[in-house]
Order: sequence, then structure tokens, then C-alpha cells
Amino acid sequence: MIDTKNETINERVDSLLSKMTIEEKVGQMNQYNGFWDVTGPVPEEGTAKTKFEHLKKGWVGSMLNVRGTENVKEVQRIAVEETRLGIPLIIGFDVIHGYKTLSPIPLAEAASWDLEAIEKSARIAAIEASASGINWTFAPMVDISRDARWGRVMEGAGEDPYLGSKIAKARVKGFQGDDLSKNNTIAACAKHFAAYGFSESGKEYNTVDIGTSTLHNLVLPPFKAAVDSDVKTIMNSFNELNGVPVTASKYLQRDILKEKWGFNGFVISDWASINEIISWGHAENKREAAKLASTAGSDMDMEGYVYVRELAKLVEDGVIKEEILDDAVRRILRVKFELGLFDDPYKYCDEENEKQNIGNKSHHDAVLDVAKKSIVLLKNKNNLLPLKKKGQKIALIGPLADEKNSPLGSWRLGSDDNTAISVLEGMQQYKENTLVFEKGLDLVEGNTAFTQQVNINNTDRSKIKEAIAAAKNADVVVMVLGEHGFQSGEGRSRTELDLPGLQQELLEEVYKANKNIVLVLNNGRPLTIEWADANIPTIVEAWQLGSQSGNAIANVLYGDYNPSGKLPMTFPRNVGQVPIYYNYKSTGRPNKESHVFWSHYIDSENTPLYPFGHGLSYTSFEYSNFKIHGEKFSINDEIKVTVDLKNSGEYDGKEVVQLYIRDLFGSTTRPVRELKGFELVPLKKGESKTIEFKLTRKELGFFDNQGNYIVEPGKFKVFVGGSSTTKLELDFELTE
Ligand code: GLC
Repeated sequence: MIDTKNETINERVDSLLSKMTIEEKVGQMNQYNGFWDVTGPVPEEGTAKTKFEHLKKGWVGSMLNVRGTENVKEVQRIAVEETRLGIPLIIGFDVIHGYKTLSPIPLAEAASWDLEAIEKSARIAAIEASASGINWTFAPMVDISRDARWGRVMEGAGEDPYLGSKIAKARVKGFQGDDLSKNNTIAACAKHFAAYGFSESGKEYNTVDIGTSTLHNLVLPPFKAAVDSDVKTIMNSFNELNGVPVTASKYLQRDILKEKWGFNGFVISDWASINEIISWGHAENKREAAKLASTAGSDMDMEGYVYVRELAKLVEDGVIKEEILDDAVRRILRVKFELGLFDDPYKYCDEENEKQNIGNKSHHDAVLDVAKKSIVLLKNKNNLLPLKKKGQKIALIGPLADEKNSPLGSWRLGSDDNTAISVLEGMQQYKENTLVFEKGLDLVEGNTAFTQQVNINNTDRSKIKEAIAAAKNADVVVMVLGEHGFQSGEGRSRTELDLPGLQQELLEEVYKANKNIVLVLNNGRPLTIEWADANIPTIVEAWQLGSQSGNAIANVLYGDYNPSGKLPMTFPRNVGQVPIYYNYKSTGRPNKESHVFWSHYIDSENTPLYPFGHGLSYTSFEYSNFKIHGEKFSINDEIKVTVDLKNSGEYDGKEVVQLYIRDLFGSTTRPVRELKGFELVPLKKGESKTIEFKLTRKELGFFDNQGNYIVEPGKFKVFVGGSSTTKLELDFELTE
């Protein structure tokens, strides 16, 4: 049965394409930035005058950073009513973790392991963004990364391809919904294709040199999950991969993405990444860059002014075939038809919708819910948490304790500064305790999100003594330390991962006055907090949790929500260990020896401070009766694994039961552990449940160095537990 709807769309695309001039085709492949927010370096031609002139000529297919129904209507009207063919614009924006109502930064949300909550968070972001005229988001960012020095780890789902793939699917589904023609669904964009997260030494925009096994087994799976979830667009990345700038890589964009995977949407370049082929030393000039990028499968040029200046001439000169343009334009037009933009170009410009559906209570309730679920309890010695709800004297200390801007995190162009609920405001809701607040250190603010580096105070100690005095008189001290929201994100790589500024000094001074400290971290990346881990009894990882940050943190500190988060990224002991991750290889000398000739450092342990998958609860969970149902299996069998879980503590809670495998001997070496299943298990205190997992080819295989997925017979281990370091393991064997 032919899908007449799509056949209609394809027919409509072809019929429109047949009417287009070369300039109009190039126009569809050209995206300009709006006149307001800038999310990259503005090229010399980036004037509003040029943009309006080109808009009128039909030389613009898309704009980014134009938002608000009035502004979108203004540019859409020119495209639809003043050009020869009236092809509507697709309007893109970075809706990364919410639009106006902000959910936690994506790395924090990944710590919830709650796919439903993550999908819902993306759905709300789409509802608010689409009400503001936007019909395309440059999200989800699905870059796997093992390097906390890289500022953009805040934007992804951490270090693991299995968790990253599940989250990519949830976010694409949340943005695109089940019907893209509705005006509260928007096209998603899996980015940055590919391997940007492996930027050498964590330095922003640096080279990437990785092997095919890492590319196929770690980097590509979340993109494939997004493509399998029908993501409409892919954004390429700034980096080169093994010597070829990705935006000029036919291997990635055509051979793998469009041919092997059958991706039928379009590829947008990253901001001027086509232009940057020149500075990479891969093209001599814009003409060469345009030729390389278009033939490699980059369909649209974001704010690069390369395609609009060079492509038509390259076709006229016979250097590239017009079919290259036709393929790109077909892909772009198809997405615009699927969005319903040809049927109603102003469907996203509904002022009533804009008034009703942005920032309402149900959205705040939802982002509060996912924020609570994103909090990870790293340590809770002496059960300092949960706090008693009355009769306690609590000192709240720290430069981020009353912060309303930083908890919004990076990448929140659509939101308003200083609108987060602070920890102070959240804790003030609990009125039966005595709460004393002392900042201890002022923040040192930069002047904007995109120019100044903001930092935490590293000179002025004048407020530390008041903090010490407050600590002395308190039963419990809650300290909120970490990074400013703009110390992570794009352009924010760090060479250190310590608490910035004088925070470590403040922490140690307060500790001298009162050892009963609950350390709450607000940060956009794993931090090296070895001293805190050795001395501070309770540590809570609270990331940057968005609009409802302070309420979520207070709910957890007071036990109104029992923390259930698990780390999506390893916390190193020190920056020297980075990159450090759970799915490492055994090496040829894995075992500790009496001599030095084994795989280790002489000045640090090999183990991380907190491993992937780690997270505690106020209750305790007991695992028992771990079973594989059968002994030997063929590589096509489905293997059933079960385990019993009991909530043996005093609180109702939720455990993320994780399942890992190890393929002991492979034609290419396999990691010592690989996440291949997880289940969120809510259990009332005293309650038990049997959890079941299935292992099939899908979980037991891997990509070989030619990028082929294979399953090999041999010996395996399977692990199950509440962290990647679980000791619960069983053996099984696969036969041919
Ligand atoms: C930025 C980012 C990309 C973003 C784009 C548009 O430089 O790399 O993730 O979507 O430009 O803002």
C-alpha cells in the first residue's frame, strides 16, 4: 500500500523543484542568522541589509535565532509573499533544555535515566518554542564524550552509547511528537555529526583522531538511534575526523548517513563550518569549500555565505552537477512540506498560542519533576540527609546558594536571566527550621553569555569570616558550590576540573568550624572533588537544574523526594586521569604487581572518584537470586536474565537496575563492561520485585573495524546492579 500522503509530498517536492532556478535552489541551501542573538562569530557579510536583500530574492531557505511570532511573521511574509515561488522559511533555534521554562541541562537529565521524563521535557520545550514561531530545534546534541574538560559535556547524555541512544530517541520523539504537521511539534536535529565529543585534550574545536572501532561502537550509535527515530535533520560538526573536516566528509555524510542508514532528512552545517574548511587547511578558498561540502553531503550552509556566493557558479562551470543541488533541495523541501509550512506558512505565528502556552504552571511542574529525578546522591555518611524538617539550625553557605542565573545553565537563549528558583528560595519554603544564609564568596560575573568568561571569585576573601561564624552556630551546614552556568557549554573548555576560584578554601575553612556539611554541587561537568570526598560526609550532585532548581534541591535535601539519579559520566579523581570512563579495555597488564610494570599511574589510583552509574538513595536496595536461564546459547538465541530486588531500607525509593556484559575474547578487543540494559524500579519500603532482561544479538554484538555489526561465539560475563562497578556477575557461553 503506497503511502499516498508521502507520495503526495514527494510529488509536490518534485513539481516545485522542476520550477526552480539554480539561484532559487541555492537559496534553499542557505541559512542566515537573525538580527538578534548571535551564537557564533559573525562573518563580514552578516549585515541585516544583506539578509533582507537576499530574503527578497529567494536566496534564503532558513533563518536561525529569529523568535517571537511577530519577528517570525516579518521574515516569513517576505519569503512567502515577496519572492517568485513563495517558498516558506524553516525557522531554527537552539532549544537545548527548554525554551522559556528550562529543564535541567541535558547531562543532568541523563542522570535521571528516566526516558519518559526526558521525552516529556523535550515535548514541553517544543510546545513553548513552537508557540514562539520556531519550527526546528538544533537538538538533541548526542555527542558521546569521555572528557570533562570539554565544556559541551553539559549538552549531551554522557559517556555511554547505549544510554545515549535511548536518550537520543526520547528527545527526538519529544520534539517531533507523533505528527510533525501539528503546530506544537518541531523538527529535531541530532548533532554534532560526528565525534565532536572526542576533541583532543578536551580543547574546544580541536582535532579528532579516533579509530574506526571507537567511531562505530561509541560515536555513531546515538546518531543511528536518532535516524531510526525519524529525526528530520542532522547537524554536522566543527571538527575534522582523522584529517578530513567533517562537513567535507563524504564518508560520514553520504556513505554512512545517507546511503548505509538511509537518512532522508537534510544535513545542516554547524555555524560557518563550511567556511572553516579553509582554516582547517583543506580548501584554498570558498569556491573549493563549497564544492567539497556540497558533494560531501552538507545540504545547508549555516551563516557561512559560502553556498550563496559560490554554488550556482560551480554548477554553471560544470564543476559540480545540478543533481547535487537537487538532492539537497529535495531533502529540505520535504521537511518543510512535512511541517505543513506550504499549507500554512504562518501556522507557528499564533499570538494566542504564544500567550497561552509559554511558562505555564504545568510546564514548571514537569521541569521540577525531572529536576528532582536528575539529582545524584554521591555520598551520605552518617545519614546527614534527609534534613530534619523542624528544630534545626541550618547555615546555608556558598556563592551559588542564592544564585538565580547560574542554575539555568548554558544554552538557554530563549529564557530570561535570573529566573531560576535559587537554593535559598527553595529552602525558605521549609519554615520550621532556622535558616541563616551567608554567601561566603561573591561571584565574579562576566558581562554576557557569549563573550566574557565568568568565574567564581578568586581574590576577595572578605565574606569568608561571616560564613565561618554562621557555620559555627549551626547544627548542619548546606554549602552550594560549583561552576557558574557559563563556565561550561560551547567555548568553555577547562584545563582544571577543581572548584573554581576560592571555593575550595571556603569549603575547608567552613569545615574547620563545622564538620556536618552537606555539599551541594551546581556544575555543568564532572569535577575533581577528591578532598571533599575524603572529608565531607554528604555530597549531592545537583548540576544546573533549570527554572525549578532550588525547589528540586530543597525537596531532595528534606526527603520529600528520595534521590534516584545515577551518574551518566565518570567523575575523575584528578584531571590527569581524563579521559576516564567505565567501559575501558583490560590492557595487556591489568593486574596490580609488586613491580611497576603494569597499567597504572605512580601518583594516582586507576579508579575514578565516582563511577558511571553510581548514585545512592535514602533507602537501601538488596539484589538476590541473579540468574541466567540456560547455560549455553547460540548466537541467535534470546537469553533471559533475572534478578530479585528488595527495598530493604526505611524509605520508598527508586533504583536504576543496570545490566552490563563483557565479551571476554573478541576479534577486536572488547571493554571490560558495556551497558546493555536498565530499568527504573520504584519500590515501597520492604517491597520486592523480580526484574527481567533479555539479551539478543542486538546487545551481544559490536562493530568491527570495517563498521560491520558482528556477533561472535565465545565466553561472556553478565553483570547486574546499581552501578557499573557492581560485583554481581554470571558467566555464559555463545556457540555458533
Ligand atoms: C553553535 C553550535 C551549534 C548550534 C549552532 C547554532 O556554534 O555549535 O550546536 O546549534 O551554532 O546556534
